[in-house]
Amino acid sequence: MVTDNFCELFEEIYQHPAQAMSAAPGRVNLIGEFTDYNNGFVLPCALEFYTRILYRKRNDNKVVVHSLHYPGECDEFALDTEITRGDSQWGNYIRAVAYVFKRQGHQLSGVDLLIDSNVPQGSGLSSSAALEVAVGGVFNQACQLNLSNETIALLGQEAENDFMDCQCGIMDQLVSANGKKAHALLIDCQSLATEAIGIPDDLSIVIVNSNYPRKLVDSEYNQRRIDCEQAANKMSVASLRDADIDMLDNARSSMTENEYKRAHHVITENSRVLNATQALKNNDMQMLRALMTASHLSLRDDFEVTIPETDGLVEICQTALGNAGAVRMTGGGFGGAIVCLCRHDDIDKIKAAVSAHYFSRFNIQASLYVGKAGNGLQVTEF
Ligand code: GLA
Repeated sequence: MVTDNFCELFEEIYQHPAQAMSAAPGRVNLIGEFTDYNNGFVLPCALEFYTRILYRKRNDNKVVVHSLHYPGECDEFALDTEITRGDSQWGNYIRAVAYVFKRQGHQLSGVDLLIDSNVPQGSGLSSSAALEVAVGGVFNQACQLNLSNETIALLGQEAENDFMDCQCGIMDQLVSANGKKAHALLIDCQSLATEAIGIPDDLSIVIVNSNYPRKLVDSEYNQRRIDCEQAANKMSVASLRDADIDMLDNARSSMTENEYKRAHHVITENSRVLNATQALKNNDMQMLRALMTASHLSLRDDFEVTIPETDGLVEICQTALGNAGAVRMTGGGFGGAIVCLCRHDDIDKIKAAVSAHYFSRFNIQASLYVGKAGNGLQVTEF
């Protein structure tokens, strides 16, 4: 849902109408966690939750940004001097994207921006990637750069890596740019080839956010990435994509316990993604269930990115659904959300179980969303 008077608000703030809107979605990852930066496979889908940016080109080199979520807080920076971090955390994402576009040699012009978003924040549904891709869509259209959605996604990832200091992979930005309604996207993160996989009509995607406040996420995230790269080095492969379990076991004695465990997760997760893609095509709930359960356990025991709240939610939902659903944590871990695949009639079982057991065990309220797979980046001129 876009805020009703979004366009009027733009006009009120800037005293002229917007010329276009760029919209990019958040995502939920069905399976394939922490495999993207190891050149592996992922199977996310874009969600029908969007970050929308109204914009109008200015006649100077200034970028002025307002957000409906932070009324009274405005960020402003110049494009013709070095772009550095500002005081506004959300404003820094816009700076980050402008910074990498400029670094790439693109000629940018000033813009007035107004942001609105219904992507749940801090829940691991990629609100930051949605913002980066939407901003990329603004500059691409406003400055007639003719970049592909894939390039916009890659620049969004660079913005995150080089300006925001999170060494994330390409999954979130690429599915936000190229997601397809009613489909998940199998991404080969080595070649960036994608295949849209239809989500069966009778399958629901239920997302339950633990609402646990995520802390130290970036430092833990970056450390996992270093462990994976060390493990790949010790097996003499360019990335964990090129390793298998035999190679891992042969190199075990040269590895730290953590390097071994992280690599074990990634290698096994890659094959789970390919099997889950087949299971989704076949609408095979039993297979999806087995693979998503194994993925969660591997994230808990080998990659060590789950917390009691997300483990607890998975357990609560697995018990409620029994054989009728597949459940795992999703996203960057250390809190955030879990994802359940189930038949429509079983959504109420999840709702009932979460409200009966989660708060009483963890003293936090969970939030539940029924997700719909939506389209990626869209820019509409008025
Ligand atoms: C975050 C990152 C992604 C990916 C996931 C884990 O969402 O932004 O690149 O690594 O974590 O799968």
